Amino acid sequence: MDVQIYQYDAVVVGAGLAGLAAARELTAAGKKTAVITKLHPLRSHSGAAQGGINAALGADDSIELHEFDTVKGSDYLADQDCVELMCSSAPETIRWAERMGAVFSRDEKGDIAIRPFGGQSKPRACYAKDRTGLTLLQTVYEQAHREGIEVFDEWYVADIIYKDGKVSGVAAYDIRTSKPAIFNAKVTMFATGGYGRAFKINSNAHANTGDALSIVSRKGLPLEDMEFVQFHPSGLGGSGILISEAARGEGGRLFNSKGERFMEKYAPNAMELASRDVVSRAITQEILDGNGVGANKDAVNIDLTHLDPNIILTKLPELRELAITFLGQDMLKEPIHIAATAHYSMGGIPVNINCQVRKNTTELVEGFYAAGECSCVSVHGANRLGANSVLEALFFGRHAGESIVKVIDDIELREATQEDASSMLEELNRVKTSNGTERVPVLREELQQSMTDNAGVFRTGKSLELQVSIIKKLLKRYTNIRIDDKSDVFNTELQEAIELQHMLEYSLFIVEGALAREESRGGHFRDDFPTRDDDKFLKHTYSYMDENYNIKHEYVDVVLGKFEVKERTY
Ligand code: FUM
Repeated sequence: MDVQIYQYDAVVVGAGLAGLAAARELTAAGKKTAVITKLHPLRSHSGAAQGGINAALGADDSIELHEFDTVKGSDYLADQDCVELMCSSAPETIRWAERMGAVFSRDEKGDIAIRPFGGQSKPRACYAKDRTGLTLLQTVYEQAHREGIEVFDEWYVADIIYKDGKVSGVAAYDIRTSKPAIFNAKVTMFATGGYGRAFKINSNAHANTGDALSIVSRKGLPLEDMEFVQFHPSGLGGSGILISEAARGEGGRLFNSKGERFMEKYAPNAMELASRDVVSRAITQEILDGNGVGANKDAVNIDLTHLDPNIILTKLPELRELAITFLGQDMLKEPIHIAATAHYSMGGIPVNINCQVRKNTTELVEGFYAAGECSCVSVHGANRLGANSVLEALFFGRHAGESIVKVIDDIELREATQEDASSMLEELNRVKTSNGTERVPVLREELQQSMTDNAGVFRTGKSLELQVSIIKKLLKRYTNIRIDDKSDVFNTELQEAIELQHMLEYSLFIVEGALAREESRGGHFRDDFPTRDDDKFLKHTYSYMDENYNIKHEYVDVVLGKFEVKERTY
């Protein structure tokens, strides 16, 4: 098959905030840049971020306090040099976004409004009503276009061209026609977002299938801290659709079926605004104890009826609509049902402070960068603070772009050949011609349900071992799938099959990492090891997978700094 070869200075995969921000910098610096995305850029999941973007703008706030809250929130697993860089750059990042055209909500004085979020000593989440991500995404997309980025939307990247420690582009196909192509470049950047679809109850878009993670790990490259999954406290009951932390930030209170404001037991000082992992465990514990509400008793109530209705109407309009649409509950009039939902992944493709991908614990991959949720830089450690991910995506996306601009002229383009598409073509052909007896939606459902059951908010060695064996069996059954659509035009059945293999593979990293980490820290809670063990595990996990799905781990010291490691209480 004829494979078209495109040549660029830089190829950015993913068109959310991190990808577009990097592409804008590259294009503005005169570098010919292609952005490849399996969606339209404005459908990227960054657009779903509701509550805010952190920056220490308040009169009584400080960058140091933002850094401290981030490090404490991370359960001391964040690398403090990266945290310092991000938090100290946050005010400038907000001003930059505003200059680019982002319209933030304002306070009575006309300053950018800030709201409280969990785990933070001061209000510092800047917001645009409850559509902050969408506002920023539209702004950065417009500005990247203004600079002249070239967008290949509805293209699926299935492989990287990786040889001798260097990446020189990607293999991809056009989802409209299945036509394959090579995008040959001096620099490749992954900004493909999160991968919460591994779990049944999640707040992620359908596209968040973690393709980049398994593409990278199939090359023998490591993934970092995959065991740390964030369960957001407020997903809509039953579906997991996000109800922003802004609901608690604006004063929402949590109640169980007995009418108890149960956070008094779990975080007597911070209450509903304790950090996310703490609140999610509290909610899940109440449900496990039989104190849930709703037909299946699998939710708790969040009550906002005591608030001035104008707060809801002007600051949380989308949340209200979501609850009316999906639950038939109007938060102006009654409490609504929420429960913990898989929301964010702290781990990912390991990168250095300039977003260059790590080959192992000591070396870097030439010409390869990553930023945003698919990467692990690591500013969130074991638990991310709300409103730090939009900041991370925007700041580190721009920073990656600027870092690449500094080095790209010294990188030699290694010319690609048609042969570089052969693994992708083999995969496409294998999946398309598979005529077995297993169905992709069935396997995916089994993966998602079992991940929620066995690797969710509470985990044990037994549940994780069970989950390893479930995933290995699913991987075996995957070799016997059948897809009915053999066509070349918008073959979403083919795409979903490829995505499922990615989901199975990175889920194994999550579960194996969690099994090996015999402690509880941040979003990773082991009932059988309920305390944090700094002697053994104040370390990042680097995990490598072989072709038989065996995973081995290495542990790397956390970059400590001015904040002393302490017990974390709220
Ligand atoms: O709750 C939210 O609005 C989510 C924000 C975030 O994950 O940062």
